[in-house]
Amino acid sequence: MSVTTGEFGHRVTVQTLTEKKRKREPIVSLTAYDYATARLADEAGVDLILVGDSLAQVVLGYDTTLPVTMDEMLHHTRAVRRAVRHALLVVDMPFGSYHTGVSNTVENAVRFDKEGGAEAVKIEGGTARVPIIRHIIATEIPVIGHIGLTPQSVHRMGGYKVQGKTVEAIDALLADAVALDAAGVSALVLEGIPREVAARISREVATPTIGIGAGPDCDGQILVFHDLAGLAFNPPAKFVRRYCNAGELISEAIHSYRDDVRSHAFPADAHSYHLPRETQSHMRGNESNDSHGDAEATPVTGPKQAKS
Ligand code: KIV
Repeated sequence: MSVTTGEFGHRVTVQTLTEKKRKREPIVSLTAYDYATARLADEAGVDLILVGDSLAQVVLGYDTTLPVTMDEMLHHTRAVRRAVRHALLVVDMPFGSYHTGVSNTVENAVRFDKEGGAEAVKIEGGTARVPIIRHIIATEIPVIGHIGLTPQSVHRMGGYKVQGKTVEAIDALLADAVALDAAGVSALVLEGIPREVAARISREVATPTIGIGAGPDCDGQILVFHDLAGLAFNPPAKFVRRYCNAGELISEAIHSYRDDVRSHAFPADAHSYHLPRETQSHMRGNESNDSHGDAEATPVTGPKQAKS
């Protein structure tokens, strides 16, 4: 009896990413944090969906990614997991979840796999992270690296600044990329680095590179969903292409709803439930017999989708 089910036939795996690099097919990646957007991304054929710790900023309203917790990341990972059928599901290990010892780190990575259903975890940092990355990979959990502008290092970097602009910084980035590649990462996110540096790293490492603000020569690209959709409140970074202005669209819809409620234009009779004819005439009869004239219909309550 075979113990394999073939269920993975249509699924993106970490091997698919390597295959795509080999075939020079760009890897399409996007962040998602909830069921609805993850489902739209998955159904659109996105290869890799990342529950990024950018959750902290774009969904939870924090200034940086630093405060988001394991439990918050897990909560959103589970929602995304329920939507994703095709893409590789990756989750960011949040700040603090891989900095306090091997057993704690491995425990947290296992939670993302076991409780969140993630297929890989992403860790920010270069050569210094190699030992911990090896431990996670040894636990059978694929790891994606992330170098360049690493938002969890915002205080060390003194802000969100493009990295790898000097000869020394380029050498350090290359050394990081090579070390992570040798450690066995399944892909490497390159964020906020000059195009030329990203192109060189992409040529020199076997692992697929996924760029964000790293130019078009990476093996794939990733964007934060809220940037792509026009749902972010800060001015977009130079590398963002906004594909629609969902923020404006949603705001217009909410304004229209507000106006309709205030002017009694919503809900209309078409949005109302009605009693069956017999009950209505029975009620009318009761009303005319009712000396106080205050008989009330039984309130019709129920879920939004209830019929008639
Ligand atoms: O958290 C995130 O959204 C990320 C992407 C920017 C790669 O790490």
